[in-house]
Amino acid sequence: MTETPAILINQLTKVFGDTTAVAGIDMQVRPGAFLVLLGPSGCGKTTTLRMLAGLEEPSGGQILLNDVLVSSGEAGIIVPPGRRDAGMVFQSYALWPHMTIFQNVAWPLKVNGWKADERRNRVLEVLAFLNIEAYADRYPGEISGGQQQRVAIARTIAPRPKFLFFDEPLSNLDAKLRAEMRTELLRVHRATGATSVYVTHDQVEAMTMASHIAVMRNGHIEQFGPPDALLNEPATPFVANFIGTPPANLIRAQVQAGRYVYNQLDLGQAAPSEPEQSKWLMYRPDSLNLYPEAGERRLPVQFAEATPVAGQAIVTVWNEDQRLNVVLKQLPHAQLGQQLFLEFPSRPSMVYKDNNEQF
Ligand SMILES: Nc1ncnc2c1ncn2[C@@H]1O[C@H](COP(=O)(O)OP(=O)(O)OP(=O)(O)O)[C@@H](O)[C@H]1O
Ligand SMILES: [Mg+2]
Repeated sequence: MTETPAILINQLTKVFGDTTAVAGIDMQVRPGAFLVLLGPSGCGKTTTLRMLAGLEEPSGGQILLNDVLVSSGEAGIIVPPGRRDAGMVFQSYALWPHMTIFQNVAWPLKVNGWKADERRNRVLEVLAFLNIEAYADRYPGEISGGQQQRVAIARTIAPRPKFLFFDEPLSNLDAKLRAEMRTELLRVHRATGATSVYVTHDQVEAMTMASHIAVMRNGHIEQFGPPDALLNEPATPFVANFIGTPPANLIRAQVQAGRYVYNQLDLGQAAPSEPEQSKWLMYRPDSLNLYPEAGERRLPVQFAEATPVAGQAIVTVWNEDQRLNVVLKQLPHAQLGQQLFLEFPSRPSMVYKDNNEQF
């Protein structure tokens, strides 16, 4: 990276009693990026975001925002949230119930010492930008959840922060509104030119919004990169299993006499240097096919369900307790529990070392 990173994180750690919430992460984020912290519940996303925002003191490591050291675990430096040029949006909107929408959005500007007329102009501007100017004189209790969320966003961007931090801001909204607000948030992100960090455990949300994704697991970063890199070359079986709609298939195969073997089925030639042991083989859902009759590299499976999605079908089948996802061009004509044969391509999409993990 030649330009100065907007966010530089170095060996960041947070320990709560005997829980290591964040286990020494490193990250560089360029100005204007939309970074998503993605991972399962408890992996340390919120703790990382709270340390970025200055709401949590690191146990170790450093955070630099625009080249300024704002947190240092070792030196005990912690620049308070109000002096980081950052705005935060949480899942709960936390609007002041006794203030009108106008007053809610004006509040941070007042705190920052904006003059009355500048304040008024800026509030009207952001309310119009978020299409909520009609509710300026109402109280938060008099507008819908989706509208409240827009007010929370308006309030956050009003002071023109250089950083926007979001913690699962859309999880209280219904599916349609959530999709709408994703687009809206991206519009906000682009218009403000801020560097955004967005926490979610929803990989669809991450894939549609992010310029970069950090997949987190047990307090560390499993993979960092743009969405298509994570999709095309997942670095670990965990990432492969977490990303994609539907996610990729992982099969634990044995290497026997230079061949991959799964449940007595020969899945093709193993990579030359691989010793006799088990491997995780990754197959993308669109690399598999279903047939009514047996054949080479075809695994007997039971049909479970098929969902039509935009001219394709996402099909789920089972082989014993292994669930497999297949994407087909057409909906198969099959009954629940019917036996079909799943054909594997001659090579897996990716091969991983077997670390005795379960997926
Ligand atoms: N204040 C705290 N005191 C003790 N443990 C905490 C505290 N905050 C978080 N933890 C623990 O740290 C770990 C990471 O928590 P964190 O809230 O960062 O996870 P998360 O990835 O945001 O999860 P979720 O998706 O459920 O919000 C968890 O094991 C959690 O129980
Ligand atoms: Mg969280």
